[in-house]
Amino acid sequence: VCGIIGYIGSRPAASVLIEGLRQLEYRGYDSFGIAVNGQKIGLLKRNGRIPEDFPEINSFLGTAGIGHTRWATHGIPSDRNAHPHLDCSGRIAVVHNGIIENYLSLKKELEQGGHCFQSETDSEVIPHLIEEYSGKGLLEAVRRATGRLTGSYAFLVIEEGGRGRIIAAKKSSPLVIGCGDGEMLAASDATPILDYTERVIYLEDDDIASISPDGVEVFQNGCRVERPASLIEWSREDVKRGGFPHFMEKEIFEQPEVLANSVRVLTELPDILEGVKGLTLVACGSSFHAGLIFKYLLERVAGIPVRCELASEFKYHPSPARDPVIAVTQSGETADTNSALQVARSYNCPTIAITNVLGSSVTRIADMVIFLKAGPEISVAATKSFIAQCGVLARLADLLSGGKYRTTLLKANVAISDVLRAEFEDAVDLCSGARSLFYIGRGAFYPVALEGALKMKEISYIHAEGFAAGEIKHGPFALLSEDTPVIAVCPPGETYEVMNSNIKEIKARGTPVIVLGRRSDREISRISDLFIPMPEGDIITDIMASTVILQLLAYRTAVRLGREIDRPKNLAKCVTVE
Ligand code: AGP
Repeated sequence: VCGIIGYIGSRPAASVLIEGLRQLEYRGYDSFGIAVNGQKIGLLKRNGRIPEDFPEINSFLGTAGIGHTRWATHGIPSDRNAHPHLDCSGRIAVVHNGIIENYLSLKKELEQGGHCFQSETDSEVIPHLIEEYSGKGLLEAVRRATGRLTGSYAFLVIEEGGRGRIIAAKKSSPLVIGCGDGEMLAASDATPILDYTERVIYLEDDDIASISPDGVEVFQNGCRVERPASLIEWSREDVKRGGFPHFMEKEIFEQPEVLANSVRVLTELPDILEGVKGLTLVACGSSFHAGLIFKYLLERVAGIPVRCELASEFKYHPSPARDPVIAVTQSGETADTNSALQVARSYNCPTIAITNVLGSSVTRIADMVIFLKAGPEISVAATKSFIAQCGVLARLADLLSGGKYRTTLLKANVAISDVLRAEFEDAVDLCSGARSLFYIGRGAFYPVALEGALKMKEISYIHAEGFAAGEIKHGPFALLSEDTPVIAVCPPGETYEVMNSNIKEIKARGTPVIVLGRRSDREISRISDLFIPMPEGDIITDIMASTVILQLLAYRTAVRLGREIDRPKNLAKCVTVE
């Protein structure tokens, strides 16, 4: 996953590109670079993050350029492997997001033809291929080059002395064009475009666009095509931190509103799901956990079986029944999820995508799209998008069960507002000194435990695992000690009694237990070492409240340990490689 940006207009391109890249860093941030079209192509590539203060860019003259922020796949993070990459003459510069699957054979062929490569990346074949075909002009050269590429790409090209334009090409990786007044942008998403214009064009796969300051021409197979512009729904304020120290905290605090909106997204049961006998969900990471919560919620009230599959494993299973397949993906760009949905299509299953990003790749694959409307999520850790997924999926369970969750869904946001004020510094103390953390829950609170552990390991770098509470005695018990606290999610309900016994068994091994339980529950508070109260409610409010407490526990622990909150090491916001 990488972020790309291009600018052409009347402003100094270098500063537009660097500011844009800062907003795209959530996509990858191990190195960055820009190329600006002045008298010659001016190139700057650097390993590491973009410095706060960066006076060097003032020496880059030119009002057109391209930039890149990288999440390494082929070749280590280094100056050499950073984009933009150049052709042999140094006159053509390219930034690329995606994977060129046939790069090894292309590289061999190009090297035999005399091309010299400077990096270990797959992307560098693109400028050399364009150079190879450059006799008939840049646009035609890009068209011919794309014909040779297999894999996924969104790339931008500038040519020294070129006719004042940027050429863009897209296949299976996102690319948005921003249409300003006398200036145009192209970027991996709309976030960096918002500072200049709200009018955007979402390119389709196999589009090639020629972008000048005055507009854009889009081509498919060499023929001109129309791509209508639309208005971005997110505001500039939505993508700024709004006074919070980190995007993650801001996004956690937005959740009451996000949940209230998400449960209203579906006004009726989608036609595709009318009379369904079974459902399959495919997703990764947090989105998979939201899918598991849905499975528990739906199966307990509607008797409709739900298969919830890790998207990366879906293709290894035998072909499913013709049940509808729902892909759950915040970004809409997760390669495993999107290819699982393609597999489902090949089985002729009706497909639905639940996503937060309009115009993302998954929206082009699915028969039907449900938009989460959580607003842009910048922090790598999914928080408000997870709550929005839970809200939309719980509403779906409600519609499929003839209204079993209706009343509770409409007030679940109040439970989140309640726990946002919770103080639990003693639990943060315990977690930040821990060697490992184990999260346990049963029923719908098992995926809540999985999600809590994922959040903790992702941003605090403390080893954390979630378990179905019943499983912990089947092996993980051997790891329990004083410095491996257990976090138990234990609201009242069918799982309460047995969770109560599990907690006592863990405590009997000298392991401290932090329990999330209802505020009025004296018994559970008495047996826990540390107790974090949740408001009174029901299964829906307990799911939402416990999820948010575990997000806050991870966030506060990571802050205590001085971690990089919004951009954890080695991770990226969307994972566009399988
Ligand atoms: C969650 O905090 C993670 N960043 C990650 O697990 C994420 O949920 C996963 O990569 C799936 O992303 P998606 O929802 O965009 O498909």
